Amino acid sequence: MKTVTIQTLRAMKDAGEKFSVLTCYDATFSRRINEAGIEVMLIGDSLGMVLQGHDSTLPVTLDDMVYHTAAVKRGNQHCLIMADLPFMSDASIPQLLENAARLMRAGAHLIKIEGDAWLAPGITELTQRGIPVCAHLGLTPQTVNQLGGYKVQGRGEAGQALVDAAIKLEAAGASLLLLECVPSEVGKAVTAAVKCPVIGIGAGPDTDGQVLVLHDMLGVTVGKTAKFVKNFMAESNSIADALAAYHQAVKSGTFPAEEHCFK
Ligand code: KIV
Ligand code: NA
Repeated sequence: MKTVTIQTLRAMKDAGEKFSVLTCYDATFSRRINEAGIEVMLIGDSLGMVLQGHDSTLPVTLDDMVYHTAAVKRGNQHCLIMADLPFMSDASIPQLLENAARLMRAGAHLIKIEGDAWLAPGITELTQRGIPVCAHLGLTPQTVNQLGGYKVQGRGEAGQALVDAAIKLEAAGASLLLLECVPSEVGKAVTAAVKCPVIGIGAGPDTDGQVLVLHDMLGVTVGKTAKFVKNFMAESNSIADALAAYHQAVKSGTFPAEEHCFK
């Protein structure tokens, strides 16, 4: 398989081809995800919840992210590696640049930051220095205390605001966008409004790519999972089969189905 770059994803969007993304936190799963043909691995700060047992992503440190990014890189063969900047690691432009650089040195090919239209100046600073950026919009788990819970975002007029933010962040230099927990129509509108690929999680079937948390799609997450999650292990005999089934379901457009989406 050929090495996946942001240009690969861009060409796939132009060709109307879907791509799949999974979170990954270690070298063994990194190798398995590569073997399944999945295009992108995300070292998500969701590791604070699924690996560390916290009840939010806020306690995750940059050192944690660097450690896991380096492990995922060691198992990688051809996937594009994206790493999250954790809570408050972008508190100023100098901090943003230095912390993004640490993730890149650990093996990331691009970094992801949570926010809104206000991310634009930081995205420009990073991209000018050769660090591609994915802007995470909609439900941004690092702001859960301000949002009052993990709730659907972008309903009503807020939907148009998300489209406007997406256009602004692409103009600022964003290479990818990620939309979490928004109505399917908003996922569709944002995806149509920008040339850069858009990854969705609970954002409907029309985004260019889909992402899930590894532990959720393998059915090992403890407790209730979100509406947008599908357990691919339920119909598979092995982890390898479940990863391959997820990839195929995203490619063919059978995932997400109606029941995984918000109206
Ligand atoms: O941290 C994470 O896993 C994420 C995805 C859920 C998008 O940001
Ligand atoms: Na995250």
